[in-house]
Amino acid sequence: MKYLLSVFCITIFCSNMVQALNIIMPEDIFTPVQAKNGMVVTSEQIATEIGIQVLKNGGNAVDTAVTIGFVMSVTFPQAGNIGGGGFMLLYSAKNNKVIAIDYREKAPAQATKDMFLNKTSEIDYQKSQFSYLSAGVPGTVAGMAMALEKYGTLSLAEALAPAIKLAEEGFIVNHTFSNSIKHRAKNFQQHPTTTAIFFKPDGSFYEVGDIFIQQDLANTLKLIASQGIKGFYTGKIAELIANDMRQHGGLITTADLANYQPKLREPIFGTYRGHDIYSMSPPSSGGTHIVQILNILENYKLAGHNTAATIHLMVEAMKLAYADRAKYLGDTDFVTVPVKGLTSKLYAASLIQQINKLKATASKDIYAGKPTSYESNETTHYSIMDKEGNAVSNTYSLNFSYGAGIVIKGTGMLINNTMDDFSSKPGQPNAYGLIGGIANAIEPNKRMLSSMSPTIVLKNGKPFLITGSPGGSKIITTTLQVILNVIDHDMNIQEAVNAVRIHHQWLPDQIRIEKGLNLDTIKLLTSMGHKVVVKNTMGDASSILIKNGLYYGASDPRRFGVALGY
Ligand code: DON
Repeated sequence: MKYLLSVFCITIFCSNMVQALNIIMPEDIFTPVQAKNGMVVTSEQIATEIGIQVLKNGGNAVDTAVTIGFVMSVTFPQAGNIGGGGFMLLYSAKNNKVIAIDYREKAPAQATKDMFLNKTSEIDYQKSQFSYLSAGVPGTVAGMAMALEKYGTLSLAEALAPAIKLAEEGFIVNHTFSNSIKHRAKNFQQHPTTTAIFFKPDGSFYEVGDIFIQQDLANTLKLIASQGIKGFYTGKIAELIANDMRQHGGLITTADLANYQPKLREPIFGTYRGHDIYSMSPPSSGGTHIVQILNILENYKLAGHNTAATIHLMVEAMKLAYADRAKYLGDTDFVTVPVKGLTSKLYAASLIQQINKLKATASKDIYAGKPTSYESNETTHYSIMDKEGNAVSNTYSLNFSYGAGIVIKGTGMLINNTMDDFSSKPGQPNAYGLIGGIANAIEPNKRMLSSMSPTIVLKNGKPFLITGSPGGSKIITTTLQVILNVIDHDMNIQEAVNAVRIHHQWLPDQIRIEKGLNLDTIKLLTSMGHKVVVKNTMGDASSILIKNGLYYGASDPRRFGVALGY
């Protein structure tokens, strides 16, 4: 009855929200959504619908991306955020240029190399993943504002308006949201500020059909709308964050917030079988290793999709790349990363000498290479095309689903736990099993290494493929496989996104696969010396392919995203 009542009330008062319950499905699971003027693919239905509305109202891809960024902080708090950070890659049709905006979180000024080690010098994962200490200085608000100011047409207040309305008036709780809260409930209950928001006043769960209102978050977003980024990085919100940190052993101060700056970065560039690949540069490792793996694979003719021979080559290339990641990758403002060398065709040509086409090389026998030129459990990705041909590929995150699980008192804002992406102790894995060393050691004001890989592929100088994914360490290999499936295996974008994925990250020495890989293929891989393990699905690659002047959008069937075009 309560469900019926809430649906009735929404039908009367919020007709556009009711649309949010209508699941829009393509004709079959292998048919992408097709459109001529604009395309939006996100992991959340309301965000996609609002994004399309921005495009229809004459906004460009960046206006849409920023509006969606704020909307998802309300409707998809698992990963959408103002308390985290990320990376935006955009193609400006007017300038025929791909631009990268780095709004990754930074370590607070008081952070120290050993801050997560206990008395016996082991990593205290409770501290690095679930405490106030696990939070980096958030970058999303500054990054979104920078994108809008440089490449958008809307004001910050206009881009924030839909998010404020959704926070203040609420939205209908769906299965994904309700279940995700239940999943983290124990953790949330340790923090009264989080409990107050993600549980009903009587302590019960929000269920499907309920309305979810976030008044504190609405007030925070309103302050940003009226004061610009100052409304977040200085004044009341900054003080609320710093006070809460001080009271709970966290490190972020008002000075950390006031000093935060997003950065324009040179994107990683490479080529692959006649396509131009642009992806994210450090402090993300994503672009570097996608290009490195593509460079290796370009030396081979791949013998069909997901055959043992193809998977073997992919996996051998992945191991070499992830071994290099562990040694070389970090924030280029602090350490020298040999990006040119790692992404050069020459280096790839030297690496293929180590690949035996018939036999797996054990990870213990793989070490980081010597690139020649040495020069100076939730994220979300969305892809957008507008009618002028501008593209946005954006991945942002709180790190885990709901970040540290901590809402900062009085702000309605969840804080990230991205400090765990640093290498807290050389050789010791983080939450994604990734290891690292000095290049990614904790230092004050340094950005922690990421795997986020927003990617734009150009063909004949124009956008061809917009893709990226969540998935921690698996982001790189998920994004890679969407590219390979389109370019090498001639799949349409929905097929490319749907196809069974594999992953290897050097350590642990195993090929992780999704269910659905042929048993004969697994047997062949095992006979070549690989260890194969079947685990949960990987990634959520909201992608767009552009062909013959049409936009083809594909949301990932692994999760609950929606593609819409017009
Ligand atoms: O930046 C990174 O690499 C991680 N913080 C991303 C986390 C992530 O993708 C979790 N989602 N599934």
